[in-house]
Amino acid sequence: MKDELNIPLFEMIICLSEAIDLISQEVNGHHKRVAYIANSIATEMGLSEQEQRDLIVAGALHDAGAFSLRERLNALEFEESCEYDQGEKSEHAEMGYKLIKRFKPFAKIAPLIRYHHVLWDGGKGAEIDGDAIPIGGHILHLADRVDVLINKKIDILNQKDDICRRIERESNEMFIPEAVEAFLSLSKKEAFWFNTTSSNLTRILAKKSGSERINLNLDGLLSLARLFSDIIDFRCQFTATHSSGVAASAEILAELAGFKRKECVMMKVAGYLHDLGKLAVPPEILNKPAKLTKREFNIIKQHPFYTYRILDRVNGLEEINHWAALHHERLDGTGYPFHYNEDYLPIGSRIMAVADVFTAVSEDRPYRKGMRKDKVLNILKDMSSESALDAEIVLIIEQYYDEINRVR
Ligand SMILES: [Fe+2]
Ligand SMILES: [Fe+2]
Ligand SMILES: [Fe+2]
Repeated sequence: MKDELNIPLFEMIICLSEAIDLISQEVNGHHKRVAYIANSIATEMGLSEQEQRDLIVAGALHDAGAFSLRERLNALEFEESCEYDQGEKSEHAEMGYKLIKRFKPFAKIAPLIRYHHVLWDGGKGAEIDGDAIPIGGHILHLADRVDVLINKKIDILNQKDDICRRIERESNEMFIPEAVEAFLSLSKKEAFWFNTTSSNLTRILAKKSGSERINLNLDGLLSLARLFSDIIDFRCQFTATHSSGVAASAEILAELAGFKRKECVMMKVAGYLHDLGKLAVPPEILNKPAKLTKREFNIIKQHPFYTYRILDRVNGLEEINHWAALHHERLDGTGYPFHYNEDYLPIGSRIMAVADVFTAVSEDRPYRKGMRKDKVLNILKDMSSESALDAEIVLIIEQYYDEINRVR
C-alpha cells in the first residue's frame, strides 16, 4: 500500500474554510464570498491563472487567525483597517499567516493573508519593513472590505451603487487604484453580484479552482491535522490537550491492535480531528465547570455530526472521517448522532471511542481531577460489559495501561 493520500485541493480548502466559519454563524459565508470577489478582481485585472487561483485559497482562509467571536466581528467593521498604522501589523492577519504557512501546500499564499489589512496609502503600502507586498494582498484587502459592506438583509442590486461609491472614495487611500478600477468595471455586471451572494457559491468556486490534487505523505497528513488542531486549540485550551491525548492514545491502541504504520498515522490524524465539530459549540458550554443542563447537552451533541459533515467534504478522507466522527457511537446502538451499532462500526471507530473515554476520564477537567488507574479501568470495563465499548480494545488498555497512559 502506498503511504500517500491523494486529495483534491479545493475540497480540502473548503473543508478548512467551513471549519473556520463554524466558530461564528455571524460571519457565515464571509470566506467564500471574499474568495469569489478577490478571484474575480484578479481575473478582471488580467493576472495569471495561478494568481487568480491563489486568491481563492487565500480568500477562503484569510481570517483563520481570528479566533474569538469578538475578533471576528471586529474584522467585519469596515474601518477596521484604519486602526493599524503603516508598519504595524494586524494581529489576526499575522496569526493567520503563521498558522497557514506551516502547512506546505498553503505556504505560498500565506503572505497574502499576512498583508490583507495593509492600506495602500498613496503607494506607501507597496511594502512593509522592506518586504514587497504582493498585489494579491491588496486585492484580498479590497475584496474583504467589499464583502463587509454588503448588507445581507437587503437586495444586492439595491445597494451595489452605494458600495461602489464607498470603495471609489477610498481609491489610492485604503485600496490600490488598479484593483478599484477592476472592481468598478466588474460591478457593472449583475452576474458578479448574483454570484457573490449565491447560495451555490461553493460550486461556482469549485469550477474556477480546477481539479488540482495534492499528494500527502504521512508527514504531510500529520501537518494537515496539526493545522486543523491549531485552529481548534486556540479556541479552547482544554480541548487542545484533550485532542492530542486522544490522538496519542488512539495511535498506540491501533499499533497494539495490529494496524499497519500508515493506518496508525491515520488513527492519530483522526484523533486530532475527532472534536473538530466542537468549534460550533460556544466556549461557555465547553468550559462549564458544572453539570450540563439538558439544553446544553443537546448543543454538545452536535459536535460529532459537524466533524462528520466537514470532513465529508474531502474525497480521500472517508476512512479518517469514520474513525474520527463516530467516536460517540456505541456498539449497542445507544450512541449519537447516527446510532450505528456493531454491525456497522469499523474497528478504527471502536478504537477512537475507547481512546476518547479513556482520555476524558484520565485528564483533569475544570470541575474535577483526572481519575487514577483503578477507577479508569472500572469505567471502561463497565462500558464494555454493557456492550457500549469494544471488549477487546478495553482489554488492550488493561494489559498496557501504564504504557498507554504515559503516551497520553
Ligand atoms: Fe481580516
Ligand atoms: Fe475578513
Ligand atoms: Fe473527545
